[in-house]
Order: sequence, then structure tokens, then C-alpha cells
Amino acid sequence: MTIHELDTPCLLVNLDALHSNLKRMADYCRKHGLNLRPHTKTHKSPDIARLQIAQGFPGITCAKVGEAEVMAEHGITDILICFPVVGEIKTQRLCRLTRKAKIAVALDSVEAADGIAREAIRQGVTIDVLVEINVGMNRVGVETPELLVALAEKVHRMKGLRLRGIACYPGHLFSKPNEQERPLRELGDRLTDLRLRFRAKGLDDRWVSAGSTPTAYQSHFVRGITEIRPGQYPLNDRNMLGVGACTLNQCAFHVMTTVVSTAVRNHAMMDGGTKTFSSDRYILAGAKTESTYGLVRDDENIVFCSMSEEHGHLDVSRAHRPLNIGQRLRVLPNHVCPTVNLHEKLYGIRGETVETVWEIKGRGKIQ
Ligand SMILES: Cc1ncc(COP(=O)(O)O)c(C=O)c1O
Repeated sequence: MTIHELDTPCLLVNLDALHSNLKRMADYCRKHGLNLRPHTKTHKSPDIARLQIAQGFPGITCAKVGEAEVMAEHGITDILICFPVVGEIKTQRLCRLTRKAKIAVALDSVEAADGIAREAIRQGVTIDVLVEINVGMNRVGVETPELLVALAEKVHRMKGLRLRGIACYPGHLFSKPNEQERPLRELGDRLTDLRLRFRAKGLDDRWVSAGSTPTAYQSHFVRGITEIRPGQYPLNDRNMLGVGACTLNQCAFHVMTTVVSTAVRNHAMMDGGTKTFSSDRYILAGAKTESTYGLVRDDENIVFCSMSEEHGHLDVSRAHRPLNIGQRLRVLPNHVCPTVNLHEKLYGIRGETVETVWEIKGRGKIQ
């Protein structure tokens, strides 16, 4: 099958770029003695997770228990859920998952720890725990070393849980790679200090998990980490391109759309809006730069300026050539993860040939 036989809108993955991205990250981690535990929320596909594991690192990260269930059902046996698992329904599912896979969870409260411990005891299982510190994203994670040590001590004493170390997420460090050394070294100093505090109290500090795609290749500046969890690096997107985390050739992913209307002057409509693309804006757009919804790779002078549910609005006033009804477009979305979550399939292509079709089995698994 060729891409011309596919209906649109659909998601295309350049297999050469994907495999090269996977290998490059694994090689980097091997070189620097880091474990690679990719965050699979980006592709939500057990097939791509297996390709990541084939690079020599057995573990993955998930955000939600539902994603982890899908991955475990498809044979993945080492999963960190890097999101607080709260509520009985979820703790029951979490503990049941240990029958299929080695399960760990990152958490930042005694309440979350208590809930998981209670259910783990009831089911007669043990859940590995990383305690999470906020390093600047201001989303989850306790605020001080003292609070982290206090939480770790409580987890250490709880039956049903096994404290294994520390988690953090430096997602706030969204800058060019050559601007990251200082903040990453500072983060390394903080984590090293935390590990010393853990050791002084006899707490397990052997697993220190951090990492994001924009910081991934600078992770060797972060003293004290043992593992990174980049998610977006296999596919990449416009925001990763903008921040210098990848080149255009390393963007392995695009949305293929069809031009469906050119009736309005200076505008064209393609067949994908908010139900095809996420509404994430282009993060690096300056005050004077238009913040658009993706990069039209066929003609960078076409501006993806707005969306309705099913219409992608293109400003074609500066286009190199007029667009024709029925013409296919390749669009690099701003944010790959929520875009993939809207679709059922990923088509793996080489040139114009469709070589693989992957079901996005974890899509919509938000619980
Ligand atoms: C906890 C956590 N770890 C790792 C990642 C992966 O980072 P990135 O999206 O930069 O690849 C994310 C992304 O949101 C995350 O929330």
C-alpha cells in the first residue's frame, strides 16, 4: 500500500527516522551509564514500546494505570507509573497489575502511599515506590528535601510498599540544549544532596528517575540520576524542533490531511481541526510571532492559523503556490502526545510505501 491509498486525516511515522531516534537515545544512555525508561504516553502503542525495549532497556514509563494495563497486556513487564495513583478503584487495578508486570509508582503524599499500601496488603503484593520532589515544574512533588525525607521514611515503614528511590520531572527546563548545562548541574547538586540525606537515614536511594525530551541529551550534567524518561524523542514535534531538541529530519511524525475547500479568499481548509490536532500552541512563539497549530511542511508560508472541530484553517495569503481541492498536506503538529491520543492508528512509512500499521491501543486510556 502507498500513502496515496490512505484516507485522511491520518498519522504517518517515518520508520527510518523513528528507528534512528530510538537508537540514538539508547546509545546515549549506554554511553553515560543511564537507564532509559521511555515515557510511552507519547505513542501509546505497545508495538513502539517493544521497539524501544529492543534497544536494550526493558522498562517503560506510563502516566495512567489504564496505559500500564494496555502495555502489560501486550507483554511489557517493567512499568513505572509516574503519576500519583489515588482512589480505591485505581489502587485495586494497580495492585492487580503486579500479576503481569513489575510495577512501580511515583507519589508525593502520605495519602497516596497509604491508599496503595492498604490495597497491596489486601492483595498480598508489594509495590515499588519512588518519592517525588518538585524541581521547578510546580506540578507534583514535595517542596523541600526535609519533606521528601519525611515522606520516604513513612513509605519505608509501610507494609505493602518498598521504597526504591526518588523521582522528579524537569519539564520546566524548556530551553536550547546549549543553555541547559548550568540548571542541569544545579539539579544534579540537589539530587546528590537528597541521596546523601537518604543514605544517612538508611533509606534506599538506588533508583533516581528524571528526564524529559528537551533535556535528554544533556542528562550527563545531572549528577546523581540513574535513569531518564524522555517521551517525545521517538516521534518529536514542532515544539521539540523549536526548542532545539531535534532537527526537522528527526521529526518522524506528521499528520496527513486533505485540502477540502479554497472558497474563501486567502484561506484554505484542510480536513482536520481540534478533533485531529491538539490545540497546544507553539510554545516558543514570541510576542511578535504568530502562535500557530503546526508546521505545514509542504510550504512554510502557509499558516495553520486556527481550528474548528473538523476544519484546519490555513492562511494561504503568502503561500508559494495556490492550494488545490483534494491536495494532500503534511503537517507537523505542535505537540505529538495529545495528537496521537486522538487517533486509532499510526502508519509506518518508508518513502511513499506504508510498511506497518500500528494500533494506538492506549489511546483514550486516561483513567
Ligand atoms: C512525569 C513525566 N516524565 C517524563 C515525561 C516525558 O517528557 P517529554 O514529554 O519531554 O518527553 C513527562 C512528560 O510530560 C512526564 O510528565
